[in-house]
Amino acid sequence: MRFSASILSPILGVLCTLCCVGGAQAAPRFPPPLGLPSVLHPADNPPTPAKIALGRKLFMDRRLSHNNTFSCAMCHVPEQGFTSNELGTAIGVEGQTVRRNSPTILNVAFVRQLFHDGREFSLETQAWGPLLASNEMANPSVGYVIERIRQLPDYRGLFEQAFGGRKADMQTVGAALAVYQRTLVSGNSRFDRWHYGKDRNALSAEEKAGWAVFSGKGGCTACHAVGPKHALFADGKFHNTGIGYARSMGLKTRYQVELGGGARTEVGHEMLDSFEQSLPDVGRYEVTLDPADRWAYRTPTLRNVALTAPYMHDGSFATLEDVVAFYDQGGIDNPDKDPRLHPLGLSAAEKSALVAFLKALTGDNVAALARDARRAAPVVGRWSGRDPASVYSGRH
Ligand code: HEC
Ligand code: HEC
Repeated sequence: MRFSASILSPILGVLCTLCCVGGAQAAPRFPPPLGLPSVLHPADNPPTPAKIALGRKLFMDRRLSHNNTFSCAMCHVPEQGFTSNELGTAIGVEGQTVRRNSPTILNVAFVRQLFHDGREFSLETQAWGPLLASNEMANPSVGYVIERIRQLPDYRGLFEQAFGGRKADMQTVGAALAVYQRTLVSGNSRFDRWHYGKDRNALSAEEKAGWAVFSGKGGCTACHAVGPKHALFADGKFHNTGIGYARSMGLKTRYQVELGGGARTEVGHEMLDSFEQSLPDVGRYEVTLDPADRWAYRTPTLRNVALTAPYMHDGSFATLEDVVAFYDQGGIDNPDKDPRLHPLGLSAAEKSALVAFLKALTGDNVAALARDARRAAPVVGRWSGRDPASVYSGRH
């Protein structure tokens, strides 16, 4: 059986972490895919094959939502770049609206501050957000989720095996999901082979021209950072581009709406608001309470961006052409707009070259990672044990 380097790497990493634990994080000694740094695993949660398999099973399991309908993978769909291509903003259990776009989980191992507003710091704790959010997986409590997992017969022994005898609990559920998500590493794109691998033929002339715009006239690398040895295409910082401001102020008047079956149409915000008022969202301010952070959102990676439409924290752009047109006009003016954004005056040829370049950032193992996700044993039927809540109410 063949494994891609990045599926194998965390497994190899275990062998190495065993011998180099010491600091807060232990760097595994194996080559990461071209263009990416090594994944740092927390010293207290090194990856093992048993943990990865358990995390994958949890990620794919619809029984982890209150009404058995929603797995993590239903918003972070493996075949859709680990995001949802059909939805601008996510929809959770019973059709409830989530106010933001599902980000890709590919390369989330390199994200230091999670969520569009950076409110969470570790994958080990992050999962409890969606598990408990009433508009996502809607579980009534932490204990409820843990009790349900403990009662599912197909999980019998798996936590104990992965965590040295420890049962499913708040930490081990988060730890398994974290370890699995850190395996979703994807680099060695055609850009990496050209830029870092020095393969002169890996990019077309148009894509090379797009890189010139990206790193020059377009000023994109000011935030979508590209380093001398590797590139995350993100600076880990938060910026106001005007998207959030425009939405809050009702300035952006046209939105793409999915009609089903892949068909889309544009409607005005008045029409959307007649169905449902858009939920308030002031971005990073909600975390820092610093007025300078109003409508600032974390710079997302651009790796695999060809696969992860729609774009921006509210999914308001359906295509990369729309995103490039947005930057060309200098973002949307507002008092806190990032000074790095200004009208670029790009020609039509420069704009299409930029789009072509963005499409060359797709990793070489994305399809393999999606297939690997589906290796999780299919879960048939609903959760059929007794109501976990009954454990606490003494009804059994
Ligand atoms: C209903 C759809 C939905 C479900 C189900 C869901 N997510 Fe998400 N996920 C989102 C959205 C939307 C965001 C962004 C939220 C925000 O920024 O406020 C997100 C953000 C994340 C992030 C942060 C990524 C980043 O770049 O910052 C991770 C990691 C993540 N989800 C993992 C999971 C895991 C693990 C599960 C299952 C336990 C899960 N998600 C279930 C929609 C969902
Ligand atoms: C001032 C910093 C900054 C600069 C300069 C910048 N970006 Fe961004 N970019 C961001 C932020 C922040 C977001 C997320 C905005 C949001 O979620 O509302 C983003 C989002 C994107 C996205 C959407 C990614 C996704 O997954 O949703 C693309 C594509 C993109 N930028 C391309 C570019 C290109 C091309 C340029 C140069 C023309 C550029 N950016 C310049 C900060 C910047």
